[in-house]
Amino acid sequence: MPAEVLEITRVGGVIGAEIHGVDLARDLPDRVVAAIRRALLDHLAVFFRDQNLTPAQYRAFAARIGTPIEYPFVPGIEGFPEITPVLKRPDQTINFGGVWHSDTTYLPEPPMATLLLARELPRVGGDTEFANQYLAYETLSDGMKSLLAGLRGVARSDKAEASRTREDRGKQPGTGGEVLTAEHPVIRTHPETGRKVLFVNIAHTARFSGMTEEESLPLLRFLWKHQTRPELTCRFSWSPGALALWDNRCAQHQAINDYQGQKRLMHRITLAGDMPR
Ligand code: SIN
Repeated sequence: MPAEVLEITRVGGVIGAEIHGVDLARDLPDRVVAAIRRALLDHLAVFFRDQNLTPAQYRAFAARIGTPIEYPFVPGIEGFPEITPVLKRPDQTINFGGVWHSDTTYLPEPPMATLLLARELPRVGGDTEFANQYLAYETLSDGMKSLLAGLRGVARSDKAEASRTREDRGKQPGTGGEVLTAEHPVIRTHPETGRKVLFVNIAHTARFSGMTEEESLPLLRFLWKHQTRPELTCRFSWSPGALALWDNRCAQHQAINDYQGQKRLMHRITLAGDMPR
């Protein structure tokens, strides 16, 4: 189904597009859902405005794109375990997700995609940035590509970079103190587009498999900087009811923490993914 069924405006040169004129509260025809999925593959992150969905409508839309799953560390909202509140209260100084990352890469099968719906926003600020990880791979030298081809990254849920953003606040009973780890190829192939992706991130990748953290860090530091260079990114400014949907297999994101003393509440749903290869 061609994406022409949708009105699409790009928000950055290499990632991100707004989709206009679609009411996600409705039971969308299959051809529209297919076009949204196509736009997601083309733009890596897509944004909709004015989608004041009820939790049931939100989960129903997410279920048209993939299979909603529960986040391991924060309980869902009442009656909707797959809808995770992402909250920063006025008295909190640290925000959730305020570091570049792909979601939960410490799981053996990280989510294919994530949806985020703006419920309450600061007067100004609180944007989210996204970075294109196909280009992060493609802009490496041939020598670096060959070096990385054989490497696997070890991701941990307790890395300081992520813990600082309190991603694990509100641990569920049974997961207290538990550290989740998973190993993934540093270069993965996107299962739908067949394109190669640089698949490490500063929030969760701790080291290369078979190496110590100290041995891994110099190269990881280079990759973390390289993969979030401004020319690989776009920045989305939220409005009430705005909804973002990003492909977690080829995009990273970070929430900007520039609204101290104000509240920001988002509702997040992640969609089941596959084992990176
Ligand atoms: C997240 O990392 O999932 C949250 C991003 C945001 O709140 O903008």
